[in-house]
Amino acid sequence: MSSPVTTIAEIGKHEGQSVTIRGWLYNLRESGKLLFPIFRDGSGTIQGVVPKNAVPPEVFDAIKGLTQESSVIVEGKVRADKRAPGGYELDVSNVQVLQRVPEDEPFPISLKEHGVDFLMDNRHLWIRTPRQAAILRTRAEIIKAARDFFDDRGFVLTDPPILTPAACEGTTTLFPVDYFDEQAYLTQSGQLYIEATAMALGKVYSFGPTFRAEKSKTRRHLTEFWMVEPEVAYATLEDLMDLSESLISFLVKRCLEKRRADLVTIGRDISKLEKISTPFPRISYDEAVKMLQEGHAKGALETKFEWGGDFGSPDETYLSAQFEKPVMIHRYPAKVKAFYMEPDPQRPELALCVDVLAPEGYGEIIGGSQRMASYELLLKRIREHGLPEESFKWYLDLRKYGGVPHGGFGMGIERAVAWICGLEHVRETIPFARTLHRLYP
Ligand code: 4AD
Ligand code: MG
Repeated sequence: MSSPVTTIAEIGKHEGQSVTIRGWLYNLRESGKLLFPIFRDGSGTIQGVVPKNAVPPEVFDAIKGLTQESSVIVEGKVRADKRAPGGYELDVSNVQVLQRVPEDEPFPISLKEHGVDFLMDNRHLWIRTPRQAAILRTRAEIIKAARDFFDDRGFVLTDPPILTPAACEGTTTLFPVDYFDEQAYLTQSGQLYIEATAMALGKVYSFGPTFRAEKSKTRRHLTEFWMVEPEVAYATLEDLMDLSESLISFLVKRCLEKRRADLVTIGRDISKLEKISTPFPRISYDEAVKMLQEGHAKGALETKFEWGGDFGSPDETYLSAQFEKPVMIHRYPAKVKAFYMEPDPQRPELALCVDVLAPEGYGEIIGGSQRMASYELLLKRIREHGLPEESFKWYLDLRKYGGVPHGGFGMGIERAVAWICGLEHVRETIPFARTLHRLYP
């Protein structure tokens, strides 16, 4: 193959020219003396046209009857076609089949419907299908956008450890790991460590995997997920809410700008995303409780929510379905939140925290707070929560040596991807999801 190698995504630059693409056969339609193979190469798909009388016989024979997902290198001339999904078709002139998928053992994922368990068992192959590939490209875009957002605003990326001696978000969801003669745990959040780097560098963020031994089998929970966490010295709760809404609207805009075709492939209702602009509504926990109680009175919620509890999945779904934009719920009762949150000086039973719920019933995508400033109060909380004091000595030091008001938040990448792509379940937002009952492949 002598023509220049290109990708399907870039093929428009070569209109009227001969090019080589390297990929796989996605599908094949045959109608007598005409073959219509659809090729994919990871960047997109394109339909080829192979008329029997216009190509050498060995080229026609190689494509005729070719099995789905056989690997191929194809040469052909790029032709603009308004009816084609990507705008172009390929008049095939040559083909080389690298590996032919055997007829008696075809690619397990056909174009018909499959059950979720079957697809998850074959996740290593499922990710080749156009919709899954579009989701993974959108995930990569969201990650890139989040990093650009913080990099461009003077935040320094600081990577916290994955192996940690203690809990950040409560002891019930820790994954233990043998660490020589000590007990270690996989990190639940980088927060405590980036509080330290924020005291060194002012504005920092981390991006990495986090782990929770969540027994919850919901469409929102993974045991391994990726979080982007900013942490800012001298930030107040108001500052954090401003930062959250700017980040989210930035991510949505970037996806609309760069991944619109993928969102269409995924089947996302794009008009819903176009409504996402700042400012977002801000309501207090008290107001949210009122909305839930009204929802119960209207028969939309089964149980009556009592002030003081944490929102469950149905509560979050209900609340987030009441708004067209993400809603920020602030000042939850301290009792239902983590040990490190600063109490509200006006009502110390509340924490200066915020959860951001995505619309359309997606629920929490961001959780954050102002951090406790007082050494004495923090020590008291650590004791009350039964946390090992020795492991938190360094964390207490941050309040001993130049303590300042500060805060940050964490955004779960998979939750953000699920909402932006409009997916039913987080298992499709990450190449290989880890959940309560899944460790394979
Ligand atoms: O609300 P969370 O537990 O907050 C923290 O971990 C803080 N330490 C973050 C911080 O202030 N730096 O988790 C933050 C976000 C949630 O809003 C959600 O998007 C995501 O992480 N998340 C999960 N995503 C998938 N599966 C799970 N099991 C998740 N648990 C939390
Ligand atoms: Mg939370």
